[in-house]
Amino acid sequence: MGTEVLRLLAEQGADLAQRVGAPLEVIGVSVRDRSKDRGPHVDPALLTEDAEDLVRRADLVVELMGGIEPARSLILEAMAHGASVVTANKALLAQSGAELYEAADAAGVDLHFEAAVAGAIPLVRPIRESLAGDRIRRVLGIVNGTTNYIMDAMTRTGADFADALARAQELGYAEADPTADVEGLDAAAKAAILASLAFHTRVGMGDVHAEGITRVSADDIAAASRMGRVVKLLSIVERLEDADGTERVSARVYPTMIPREHPLASVSEAYNAVFVEAEAAGSLMFYGQGAGGAPTASAVLGDLVSVARLKVHGGKGPRESRYASLPIAPIDEL
Ligand code: HSE
Repeated sequence: MGTEVLRLLAEQGADLAQRVGAPLEVIGVSVRDRSKDRGPHVDPALLTEDAEDLVRRADLVVELMGGIEPARSLILEAMAHGASVVTANKALLAQSGAELYEAADAAGVDLHFEAAVAGAIPLVRPIRESLAGDRIRRVLGIVNGTTNYIMDAMTRTGADFADALARAQELGYAEADPTADVEGLDAAAKAAILASLAFHTRVGMGDVHAEGITRVSADDIAAASRMGRVVKLLSIVERLEDADGTERVSARVYPTMIPREHPLASVSEAYNAVFVEAEAAGSLMFYGQGAGGAPTASAVLGDLVSVARLKVHGGKGPRESRYASLPIAPIDEL
C-alpha cells in the first residue's frame, strides 16, 4: 500500500500541494530491506532502514508498516517530535488507541486513520466529525472484504468454506495466512475502533465478542437460502440502555442470517457496507471498496491532505482524549 501512496503522491503531488497550500516533500521512506526493488514510483535514494531517524525529522509521518511494534513506538516518537501522524494500522488502534489519542493531544499534533476501517469508504471522518453533534445508537455492517468474498462465493456457487477460501487466496483477496480475517479478528479490531469513536468511550480488542466464518458450512448457507436469507459476517456496535437509564456498549462480530431483501445482503465480492444509525440523522449507509492498495491509498492521502492543511494553516483536528467511560455489555446478556 505504501507504493500506491507514493504513486498517487508522485502523480498528484502538484494538485495536492495546491489543496494544502504548501508543497509536500517526501523526505524518506522507511523499509526493512533497502536492496529490494520497489518499482518506478519509489526513488531508491529515499529508502532508509533507520525509521527512528526519519520520524524525528518529519513534519508528517504516514505509518503503513502494520503490526504493533515497532509501529507503536515510532508513532509515539514521531508525535513527541511534533509530527502529525496518518496511519492505517487497525490492530494498533484497537490495542493502543487510547495511548495514541492521548499522546497526540499531549504533543498538540493530529492523528488521522481513515484507512484503518473500511478502506476507501469515508466512515471514520463522518463518525468523528460530521456526526460529532449527534448521538449514534448503532454502527452495523460488513467491514471485512475477504470474508465477504468467501461468504458471497459460498452463496453463489454452493462451494464449501475451504474451496471458497482457496479461490479467494488464488485471486489475492485472502492472504496466505487468512487467520485474522476468517476468525473475525480484523473485523473485531475495526469494531473496537468504530465503537470507541461512535460512543466516545474506550473499547479495546478484548471487549469485542468475535466469531469468524470458519464453521459456516455449505449446508448452513443452503438452509439460510431456503429461508430467504443470506449469511454475512456482521460487525455490530451499539449503545444499550437499561430501564434505569444506565448505558452500556456492546461490540460483536459474528456470521448472521439476514433477509435477502436487506441492502447488506446484496453486498458482493470484497465490498464493505456499513449503516450508521444516529438519533437526529437517522440511518446512513456507507458502501464501497474496503480493501486494496489504491482504494486504501485514497483514504491515506485524504488524511495526509487534512493533517498537512492543519500544519500549514493552523488549528487542530478532532481529539479523542476526552471521553465518557461506558461499561461493556457481556455477550450472554444480549
Ligand atoms: N483484510 C482486510 C479485509 C483488509 O479483507 O477487509 C482491509 O482491512
